[in-house]
Amino acid sequence: RLLIIDFGSQVTQLIARRLRELSVYCEIHPFNKVDEAFLARFAPKAVIFSGGPASVYTEGAPMPPKGVFDLGVPILGICYGQQVMMHCLGGHVEGGHGTAEFGRAYVTPVGKLPLLDGWFEQGDEQVWMSHGDHVSRIAPGFQVYGTSPNAPFAITADTSRHFYAVQFHPEVHHTPKGAALYENFVKLAGFKGDWTMGAYREEMIAKIKSQVGDKKVICALSGGVDSSVTGILLHEALGDQLTCVFVDHGLLRLGEAEQVVKMFRENYNLNLIHADESDLFLGALEGVSDPEVKRKTIGRLFIEVFQKYANQIPGAEFLAQGTLYPDVIESVSFSGGPSVTIKSHHNVGGLPEKMGLKLVEPLRELFKDEVRALGRELGLPDSFIGRHPFPGPGLAIRCPGEITREKLEILRRADAVYIDQIRKHGLYDEIWQAFAAILPMKTVGVMGDGRTYDYAVSLRAVTSVDGMTADYYPFTHDFLGETATRIINEVKGVNRVFYDCTSKPPGTIELE
Ligand code: XMP
Repeated sequence: RLLIIDFGSQVTQLIARRLRELSVYCEIHPFNKVDEAFLARFAPKAVIFSGGPASVYTEGAPMPPKGVFDLGVPILGICYGQQVMMHCLGGHVEGGHGTAEFGRAYVTPVGKLPLLDGWFEQGDEQVWMSHGDHVSRIAPGFQVYGTSPNAPFAITADTSRHFYAVQFHPEVHHTPKGAALYENFVKLAGFKGDWTMGAYREEMIAKIKSQVGDKKVICALSGGVDSSVTGILLHEALGDQLTCVFVDHGLLRLGEAEQVVKMFRENYNLNLIHADESDLFLGALEGVSDPEVKRKTIGRLFIEVFQKYANQIPGAEFLAQGTLYPDVIESVSFSGGPSVTIKSHHNVGGLPEKMGLKLVEPLRELFKDEVRALGRELGLPDSFIGRHPFPGPGLAIRCPGEITREKLEILRRADAVYIDQIRKHGLYDEIWQAFAAILPMKTVGVMGDGRTYDYAVSLRAVTSVDGMTADYYPFTHDFLGETATRIINEVKGVNRVFYDCTSKPPGTIELE
């Protein structure tokens, strides 16, 4: 396996991404958490130094662990990783005025290097630079293999020791041949690219067993992909030591609670408590129309309810969470202190501290598509794995204004027709997320010979990569017309349908 030492770059996780795409198993560890003993235990087959915001001359500048250059394994240094490598091995780094460079640059080759197979076939290669300091003298044993107008040492290597150091970021998309560089590096390091989800599953099961021992674990199951995969993986590892709690807040979609419970009980035979607390949640939400108050109310009750059920499982010492890698981008602070969490999981956040539980987070190292692959590996049906994301607060944030049982029922039915339409037209997998919302107003219509005064429904469908930005989905007019007709005909209480053409930004995906 490969070790990525994180010096605090915001794009370190992309390095992991590129390597996983090459079926190479890697782990990211912050520079201040790795030492000689760690290296001995981890026994990396290759090491990558990430970029980072620091300068090698700042006091307490992040440094690689002692002994890393004596491991006898290939090392690749990126940006700050290059500088720190040169600094440690006898080169020189300069900072200060005029040495910073951000953005596109073009690298010209200087001789041939196996690390650069596939590069320079059509001349200079575009790379992405983002650095304050730069290397002004390379370390003994190194040679230059690529230069750019502002970075004379854009690509350097000591081929006898297999130390490679580049000034740019090969992991970002703006370095189009970056993936080839990583591929060459892992080949040079002797990786075969045979890391699979099957192997990860076995590894994780062993890890969970050794972490938990014979203790009990509780897991909040939402029915979403992440918590489902977490639950099933833990069930495989621990069997009856695991109890899952499915908190039904009464804000789920049509038939959802029944489907989730059935799937887990019948297919996996896991201990599952169906906590039907819809009266509690809907009661507390009565008369509430402020979006933040809604969210906070649901969050607070969720914790209370979960605690109540967890207390029924005496001796539980662990809480399992479906935290994913992008949720825990661990960045390294300048002081070299502990890493900070930029984004925390918002659904069960706060629970472990409150309840004095230890965390089990088997998906912490995975990206979303890897979680799906693991889910498939664990036998979750494709229809389940490919489901669109669904927010923790559920339909509450798709019902702007006051939430009533009547409105929720109308919303559920309209949403079901809409999703059925999308599936029938074979569009479900093209769309990142689609749902109906019920608007806080009634409008006049005419049906048959009569006047109607009913709710308006708004349909939303977006394409996105990560939910951070999104574009509305360009349905055909025929599709929209047909869907509106079906909803109005099939769902009592709706007489008007809108399609939401707002992108994100400026809109958000959910209405609240
Ligand atoms: P927004 O509305 O912020 O949504 O553009 C981006 C993505 O996040 C989902 N979302 C949530 N997911 N708990 C969740 O688990 C929440 O409180 C929450 N709020 C929004 C939303 O469905 C979309 O996929």
